[in-house]
Amino acid sequence: MTTAVPVSYSRAQKLLHWAIAALVLAQYVLLDGIARAFGAGMREGTFAYSGVVVGHIVVGVLIAVLTLWRLGLRLTRGAPPAPASEPAPLRAVAALAHWAFYVILIAMAASGAVAWFGQFGPAAAAHMLGKTVLLALIALHVGAALYHQLWLRDGLIARMT
Ligand code: HEM
Ligand code: HEM
Repeated sequence: MTTAVPVSYSRAQKLLHWAIAALVLAQYVLLDGIARAFGAGMREGTFAYSGVVVGHIVVGVLIAVLTLWRLGLRLTRGAPPAPASEPAPLRAVAALAHWAFYVILIAMAASGAVAWFGQFGPAAAAHMLGKTVLLALIALHVGAALYHQLWLRDGLIARMT
């Protein structure tokens, strides 16, 4: 653990942030067809490895690995202090939301793996609930970034670019 608080996110933290965001987007938009394959597998007993299924699994595992790497950086290197323009109650909400991202991204990969490889319905249900929670968190997060950018005009997005 470091004691000095960094003045900015590191290059690696920024790259990881945007890489993970792009991979998460792909899971929702390009690789969501795994739900159909999983449904067919549960009905018919054959879990087919189509391109979309393999893609979803590979990208999901990659998200988990990159998130763990990022979590390691967050714990050892830390993050810059919240911008001074941020109202105090919102600081707490932001901190909570940021930690929630790390937890839910790992939980998504774990529940997805147990669902697919264990052919376990309750894990799939948890994964589908997680998908909605993650989407809500992303909406809140993007809304907050835009609130900073357009309302507070503190150039927050530049901290992550
Ligand atoms: C953290 C990374 C992951 C994210 C963000 C994610 C996201 C998603 C999303 C959005 C869906 C819903 C698709 C739809 O509604 O049509 C889904 C379904 C699914 N995912 Fe993932 N996923 C991740 C990792 C994984 C992994 C690693 C596996 C397997 C090894 C996996 C297996 C599944 C399965 C089996 C379903 C279908 C569940 C069902 O239909 O009940 N996911 N995932
Ligand atoms: C799936 C998509 C996304 C995920 C999972 C995600 C996750 C995160 C996490 C965990 C942090 C906190 C980093 C830390 O201090 O540990 C963060 C910070 C940040 N994110 Fe995202 N993010 C996503 C998308 C976006 C998008 C689309 C934007 C821009 C509109 C954005 C803008 C920012 C900014 C500006 C920060 C820095 C906040 C600060 O300075 O304290 N993020 N993001």
